[in-house]
Amino acid sequence: MYPLKRNRRLRSSESIRALVRENSLTPNDFIVPLFAVEGLNVKEEITSMPDYYRMSLDHLKKEVRELWSMGIKAVLVFVKVPEKLKDNKGTEALNPNGLMQRAVALIKETVPEIIVMTDVALDPYSSFGHDGIVEKGIIINDATVEVLAQMSLSHANAGADFVAPSDMMDGRVLAIRSLLEKEQFHDTGIMSYSAKYASGFYGPFRSALDSAPGFGDKKTYQMDFHNRNEALLETELDIEEGADIVMVKPGLAYLDIIRDLSYHIEVPIAAYQVSGEYAMLKAAAQKGWIDYDAIMYEQLVAFKRAGASLIATYCAKDAVRVLG
Ligand code: PBG
Repeated sequence: MYPLKRNRRLRSSESIRALVRENSLTPNDFIVPLFAVEGLNVKEEITSMPDYYRMSLDHLKKEVRELWSMGIKAVLVFVKVPEKLKDNKGTEALNPNGLMQRAVALIKETVPEIIVMTDVALDPYSSFGHDGIVEKGIIINDATVEVLAQMSLSHANAGADFVAPSDMMDGRVLAIRSLLEKEQFHDTGIMSYSAKYASGFYGPFRSALDSAPGFGDKKTYQMDFHNRNEALLETELDIEEGADIVMVKPGLAYLDIIRDLSYHIEVPIAAYQVSGEYAMLKAAAQKGWIDYDAIMYEQLVAFKRAGASLIATYCAKDAVRVLG
């Protein structure tokens, strides 16, 4: 009771604030998304994601060295697949010499200690731009799950430490875990996008990889953003099926979901600050309307405060720079 209790006492200097601070960021918190493309000496800025690049493998090699030297421990690899290699079944996704498989092998060869995670979904490989196989306009669950399991095995073979299914098909975590166990990949982990919403925030990513759905939308598999309880149901199921890390996506608009999950589950929760969030930050900063460093840092801390232990973010390098 005032004046016995003066809450400002614990805010009165930077030292005391640091002493009682509840959350902090370190380079260990970040997962860095990487966009691989074919070619040599290619480093193209993504139009809707300023200062972020698609890179050919030679540049990717330099990039992971730099990330590791900054203290970053994990990358999440995405690939831009040439149009002519796309089909309805994602055949190219299983190519042992495909871009993803070569990227994973190269990264593990360059920095063996860095944790390599791979996106597992059909959309960059799909002629329809959907995360699954399409039949008569419908995304077929079980046939897709079989391909996703094979795709995960292929990534594990290439050296991936974690596979990250982002497709939201039912039962895919169990199918992936079972196949990895059967093939002796006991230590290959699964980071499941367990609560992934059908969101407008993925727009810039889809133009970066040329993976926008050719018809319709992703609402028959990604979650309806009006719902909260469903996130817990999806996440609990994924944990039962064998997910080691679960993820909420998008990020900032879904902090309530991260908070809910953190009350109920015990596995690490990752948040994904997605491309649209990054684009909004960068655009406002370019206009001189916001202080990019300050707002980026504040948003990333918010993920930790909500209960995330990992953050996939395009801002990771900037954040490490700000952390000093
Ligand atoms: C692929 C995938 C998407 C993202 C990550 N994995 C796009 C989508 O589901 O349409 C989005 C990432 C971002 O927007 O930063 N399934």
